[in-house]
Amino acid sequence: MKEQILSCLSPQCPWGDKLHYFPCIDSTNTRAKAMAAGGAPHGTVLVADSQTAGRGRLGRSFLSPAGSGIYMSVILRPQCRPDQLMHLTCAVAVAVCGAVSAATGLQPGIKWINDLVIGKRKVAGILTELSVSPSDALVSYAVVGIGINCAQQAADFPPELRNTATSLSQAAGKPIDRPRLAAAMIEALWDMSQNLLTDRASMMARYRSGCVTLGKAVSVHRFDQVRHGTALDVAEDGALLVQFSDGHQEAVSAGEVSVRGMYGYV
Ligand code: BTN
Repeated sequence: MKEQILSCLSPQCPWGDKLHYFPCIDSTNTRAKAMAAGGAPHGTVLVADSQTAGRGRLGRSFLSPAGSGIYMSVILRPQCRPDQLMHLTCAVAVAVCGAVSAATGLQPGIKWINDLVIGKRKVAGILTELSVSPSDALVSYAVVGIGINCAQQAADFPPELRNTATSLSQAAGKPIDRPRLAAAMIEALWDMSQNLLTDRASMMARYRSGCVTLGKAVSVHRFDQVRHGTALDVAEDGALLVQFSDGHQEAVSAGEVSVRGMYGYV
């Protein structure tokens, strides 16, 4: 798999030399954080064929069976304060949508904040983790992790995910070239990382135009509370602006947001 990814990667992309491939690992994000803490450089890429402890947002697990998906983490070392990276997950979502489109012809939508969807189902998730240096309060590293369902058919998902998850091959009706897609993702993330601190406005404009949550009825779940409203906009820092049914507007930046009509939410 590593050689196949490298053979698809543009020679201009300098991250090929820092590509680590694992047939099976606990979690590429967990390993990437350990490698970053040990000094691994900016642009270190980890790709696994399977994960035994794949992690998602809000402490959830991310199912990562062998031969089925792309499980990738990248170590970034932007020289900045953590508040300058509030849009990182959004920038990664835009980059990965572009890579999926270029490599497969499929155009996923973005369900706020970190899911890629096709139709009403989740096809990919993004988990961004930051470490801040206590000495200067600057970011010491960021790890961006992406999991994409590529080859699963409906029966391959456990019953509880069958109505909410899909794969690129299910959507395309044909097999997906995983090494080609992995290479396109590495190139797109490299490109994104070069413009991360200078191009926030255009990245966020692209995020909004791909965000299927906007204009929809949503419910916001936080601390055992569920509130209903309409998603109006995404702010420059990635927060979702919601108009609640009692009339007030709020920028939501944490918790789970269900979108009416998606993932079985009616
Ligand atoms: C989510 O759906 O909430 C995010 C899922 C992120 C999964 C990817 S797979 C590669 C990387 N390693 C992990 O443990 N998680 C991310």
